[in-house]
Order: sequence, then structure tokens, then C-alpha cells
Amino acid sequence: MPKTRPPALPPLSESPAFQALQSHAAELGQVSLRTLFAEDPKRFEQHSLRLGDLLVDTSKHLVTARTLELLAELARERGLESLRDAMFAGERINLTEDRAVGHFALRHPGPGPVVVDGRDVHGDVRQVLEQFLAFAEDVRAGRRRGHGGQTFTDVVNIGIGGSDLGPAMAVMALAPYTVGAPKVHFVSNVDGSHLWETLRGLDPVRTLFLVASKTFTTQETLANARSARAWLVAALGEGAVGDHFAALSTNERAVVAFGIRADNMFAFWDWVGGRYSLWSSIGLSIAIAVGAQNFRALLAGAHSMDRHFAETPLERNLPARLALLGFWYIHFHGAESAAILPYDQNLSRFAAHFQQVDMESNGKGVQRDGRPVNGPTGPILWGEPGTNGQHAFYQLLHQGTRMVPCEFLAAVEPSHPLGEHHPLLLSNFLAQTQALAFGKTEAEARRELDDAGLRGAALEALVPHKVFPGNRPSTSLFYRRLDPHTLGQLIALFEHKVFCQGALWNVNSFDQWGVELGKALANRILPVLRGEGDLGGLDASTRGLVEHFRSLSTAGG
Ligand code: F6P
Repeated sequence: MPKTRPPALPPLSESPAFQALQSHAAELGQVSLRTLFAEDPKRFEQHSLRLGDLLVDTSKHLVTARTLELLAELARERGLESLRDAMFAGERINLTEDRAVGHFALRHPGPGPVVVDGRDVHGDVRQVLEQFLAFAEDVRAGRRRGHGGQTFTDVVNIGIGGSDLGPAMAVMALAPYTVGAPKVHFVSNVDGSHLWETLRGLDPVRTLFLVASKTFTTQETLANARSARAWLVAALGEGAVGDHFAALSTNERAVVAFGIRADNMFAFWDWVGGRYSLWSSIGLSIAIAVGAQNFRALLAGAHSMDRHFAETPLERNLPARLALLGFWYIHFHGAESAAILPYDQNLSRFAAHFQQVDMESNGKGVQRDGRPVNGPTGPILWGEPGTNGQHAFYQLLHQGTRMVPCEFLAAVEPSHPLGEHHPLLLSNFLAQTQALAFGKTEAEARRELDDAGLRGAALEALVPHKVFPGNRPSTSLFYRRLDPHTLGQLIALFEHKVFCQGALWNVNSFDQWGVELGKALANRILPVLRGEGDLGGLDASTRGLVEHFRSLSTAGG
């Protein structure tokens, strides 16, 4: 299967569609959302999209129908559709690693063929899926037991990055579906506190470890896995390892070398990127937490979004819409960051997962053909669940000097109906999108203060502080409830959004060379910290820090 040739795209500034957008942006000028809504009573209907129960309202954006047309034109000009089609055809679009990008194949229900890199992978995918789902069901039902014959009460997933964030996010998102299942924990950080605090209180006899690592070479994961193994062996002896460890990896040799039985290893393939791997055996922790049926529903939800993305014209295409709006603010409003704000406590780790998906995918300065990009690329992505964020950083969103486009997520039905909690939560979600969009004018602020009995200089002194500029754009994603199917849809939606933006900037969204240098340097510094290496090769700052470490550390001193 040949690589997809990188397109020789002109710089954005020379693209006719981009230039048309520049003129259009100048014409639109400082148009306000108040005006846009006043001029068009059908704005909500025209600017919102649906897929099943999922409503995506993009009417509170600083765009017109013409803006969306021009953005879709730009997407066509940048080859977004052909890149999308190449991904779904299983071509090697990950050029620098010479790999296909096939996570969509993991959620394809069949019938096949599902071709990735010139091969029908459907049979292999289903076979491994059935194997790890059967393993999950055995653990849940107590048919698979520990060395002493006891059932597992706790499962510890050891992994980092894509081998941690996606599964951890999904297990938390689907917490209502985990009742009665073993408790799933996630250890990622090489900081010993993470493993220590997790294992404290766990019973080795009833603990199962899943070592999740695509490469099985990741320093942090192997260090944690070795320490977990030592903890288990200290309690139960060497013979227990086989029953208490499973591995999720593409590297069978390294797994076996670690001492994990080959029949406790669940494979996947190099065409599954780490940050897109929760759909593979890397999702075993999710399957143990929520069961096989719910895991299948998660896959089905994602597949429905794959089909929508593959088949819907760009003008009505959800991932493309989110991507193009994000692009609009980055290029035409100077937005540097974007926030994901779930009004859904169970999505507390959603932003953290998409920080990796987005920033590791599109945080690039070089185009697919090796030339530098000559403009901004991926945003700084962040976010926390509402209403906590309101009492932390929303001040900046409302009255700060930066524009931060926001994506709100909320469920119509609560996961846990509890008194008035859900209406309270939803009223806050809706109020925030309103306040961001429409703000409070000076006249309104003055009137309010006047109504409150303030007059003269005291009133005037407060007025500027009480004004909300508004025109702060947001998307609202409103779904029936956070069930596995919906979660699958939402994750796939944001994955494909990142794909679309990568296509617009012509960067390879599927490599991550930017994480390599730090890893290599850490390997060189480690012996120095152990007191084995020579300080001479270090820069003055790092040397100073190491000397400080040595002077204070009991180990180093
Ligand atoms: O952070 C770099 C990275 O390669 C990620 O892309 C990946 O998700 C993570 O490390 C973990 O890699 P592995 O699954 O191979 O341990």
C-alpha cells in the first residue's frame, strides 16, 4: 500500500478561499451576536445540527451563513474530504511513521471488509474484541480469579498518555454503569506517589493489573509495572504474577519478557494511534468497568459518528463544523486557547483526554511535506466541569482581554436524579452561554446600579466593572443522557474535529515527534542524578539544579 502523497498546498495566506475569508472577516467587522440574532429569527434553526438525540447549537458564534460557506470552501480547497476518504480507505496517511490510521476500523460493526493498509482487518479486530470482552466478563463474573482462588475486587490499569487518559475518562464518564463491577484504578505518573497511593488499601490477593502500553517500552509505565509486580510478589510470591497481570500491547516479545503470559495479552495494531486507542484492547479497563454490552454500545456510538463524518456534506458535518469554527477564531480573532466545559460531572476528564488528542495531534510547526507552517496551528486546550469552573476561571472568560471559544456539554437527563440538582446545573449551563454571547451593555449596567439605589460618582465608578462585553462564542452540545452510545459519539466527534483541523493546517495529526527530545534527555540525566554521570556535559542551569539536588538529597549527598 503506497503512502498518500503529501499535497503541495500553498500557504494559507495564498489560498483563494482563505483570502475570501479575510475580506469577509473585514466586512463582518465587529458584528455583535445581539445584532446577528436580531436580524435573523431563524438563526438557531439554521445554525444548529443534529445527529439522533445529539443537538449541536452553533448559533452563538460570530459567523453568518456566508462565513460557513466560505469555511467549507476552504476545507475543500485544503483537501479535507480527500484526506478523510483516504483515512477511511485505510491509506497510509501518517506519513512520517509510514502508517495507516485505522481507529475507525475498531468500531466498525461489520460486515466486512474493513480495509486498513490494504488488508481486510475486520476478522482480526473482531477476534481480539471478543477475546478481551470475554476476559472482561470473566473478571466481572468472578470466573477469572487470582492466585489464591479469590475473585478480583480491584483492577489497576498501568499506562500513560493514550494508554491512560481515554480509558480513565471513559470509566469516569460511565460511572453509573459500573455498579457491582470491580473498582478500576488508573496509575500513570512515574511519581511513586501515584502507585503508592493507589495500592495503599488494596489487597494483593484480589487485585488485577493491566499493563497498557502500545510499545511496551514507555519508561513510566514499565517502572510502575515493575513496582506493582514487586508489590504483588512480596505478598504472594513469584508464581502469582501470571494470574494477576494482563497486558494490552502491540509488542508481544516485550510483554512475555516482562513475565506476562501470552494468553493474558490482548493485541492491537500499529495503525491504532495511542491517543485513539481506547477502542482497542487498551479499552479493557472500560470493558471490565461497564461490561461487554456497554462497551459494544460505546463502539456503536463512535461508529455512528464515523458514518456521519464520512457521508455528510461539509456544510452539515458535525466534526467539520466544530473544526471550522475553531479555525475561524484562531485565524480571524486571534484566539490562542479553547475550553471544553462539560456541565456533566462524569465528564470531568473529558478535557484532559482531548488535551492529548488535540495538542499531541495538531501542536505542530511543520506541514506534512516538511515545510514550516506559516501561521498558528492547534489551540491550547483546557477545561473543567461546570459549575466548578464558574467559581474559578470564568471571570476571565467573561471580562478578560482574551477570546476563548468554549464548547459546553450537557445532558438533558441526569445520571443521578437528585432533588433540584439537575435543573440547577442546566440553568447554569444555559446562563453561561447566554452571558458569554450577549453580555451586559454599559446602559444595562448603569440601569441596574441605579435600580439598586446607587447614584452619582459611586454609580459611575462601578459602571465599567459591571459591563460584560459579550460576543464570546460558544457551542452547546446537548444530548439525552451520558450513556455509552452517546459517549462514543462525543469522543468520535472530537477526534474527527481534530482530524479536520489537522487537514486545514496540512499537518500530520498522527505522529508525535515533539515528545521524543525530553525522553532522550531524561535518559541522559538519570545516571547523573544517581551520581554516576559527569556534570560537565550539562548546561549551567541544569548543572546548578542537579548540584542543588545533590546537596539536599540524602541519596545524592
Ligand atoms: O506521550 C507520547 C506517547 O507516545 C503517546 O502518544 C502515547 O499515548 C503514550 O506515549 C504512551 O505510549 P505507550 O502506549 O506506547 O506506552
